[in-house]
Amino acid sequence: MSSYKVGFIGLGRMGSRMAENILAAGFPLAVWNRTIEKARSFADSKGASVADTPKELASKSDVIISMLTEPWITEDVILGTHEMKGKAVIDGFIRGKVVIDMSTNHPSSARKMASALGGVGCHFLDAPVMGGPFVAARKGLTILASGDEDVFEKVLPLLQSMGQKVLYVGDVGTGMTVKLLLNLHLWVMMASYAECVAIGAKLGVTPRKLTEIINNTVVKNYVTEFKAGKILENDWKPDADMSVAVKDLRLVADVVQEVGAPMLLGSIARDLFTATMHLGFSDYDVMAIALLYSRMAGVDLYSKT
Ligand SMILES: NC(=O)c1ccc[n+]([C@@H]2O[C@H](COP(=O)([O-])OP(=O)(O)OC[C@H]3O[C@@H](n4cnc5c(N)ncnc54)[C@H](OP(=O)(O)O)[C@@H]3O)[C@@H](O)[C@H]2O)c1
Repeated sequence: MSSYKVGFIGLGRMGSRMAENILAAGFPLAVWNRTIEKARSFADSKGASVADTPKELASKSDVIISMLTEPWITEDVILGTHEMKGKAVIDGFIRGKVVIDMSTNHPSSARKMASALGGVGCHFLDAPVMGGPFVAARKGLTILASGDEDVFEKVLPLLQSMGQKVLYVGDVGTGMTVKLLLNLHLWVMMASYAECVAIGAKLGVTPRKLTEIINNTVVKNYVTEFKAGKILENDWKPDADMSVAVKDLRLVADVVQEVGAPMLLGSIARDLFTATMHLGFSDYDVMAIALLYSRMAGVDLYSKT
């Protein structure tokens, strides 16, 4: 099964690590990236080939994976809805092949791509991931795949080359729905931790001391154990930048609105991350939400006193 040819689109923070693991598992790999120099340097150093367009990549691959930012960008690269018209995946020879979108995307966008690709005899799965770039690098992602289950079974070895856990979660679009719900939880947890840290600092309990104590109790979580390091080390190099959180919460809000459910904490979290972005922290890691809180509380998180 490891003989099928894979095409990877989007060598960003996540995609470059995932593509490396595909190569390490022995799949022949071709890559395409908007900034083509990134694709060339990846291919030269890791041993993949480069395609000039998504169309060319799709024509020479059996399975095509996308790992891009916004829904409209993924739709453009896959379906040619904007600038990629005539050069998109759908313009290649794709009958009988499989396209897997692993980006965090809107469920309706996944269904739209499945339908359009199905019209030309190509299969589609949505398979978003839990875990950031460092988790991706050590093949520790959890993959939430949905779509036709027979197609899922066929590409399972490929998905397993990128993730520690690969879950089949249902019909097309369900993977995106579940991913958005998990990230709603994550971003609210992150905002909650940032709030505690800033208030703690104001009350004379340093972020380091507070975090060490939290992590010795039942309320520790992924944010306090792993993401907290960004605040404690004053290290803002992004594993995920602010636009990722704002995008996710915008997509969740849209999905929630479609079904008419309340989203109270998520709405506040979206505004907090948006405000953090507009304060000049757009290129910072998402944990910079703590810097927004420190400003709002009028406290220096790194004060020695
Ligand atoms: N970072 C995380 O912790 C994390 C975790 C789980 C899931 N995700 C999801 O993974 C996806 C990728 O995130 P990332 O952090 O890897 O982002 P990233 O580092 O910003 O990479 C984004 C990729 O999208 C490409 N791209 C951006 N605009 C484009 C356009 N107009 N046309 C074509 N390609 C375009 C970029 O190409 P260039 O190189 O040319 O800019 C790059 O390859 C997102 O959907 C995100 O929500 C992220």
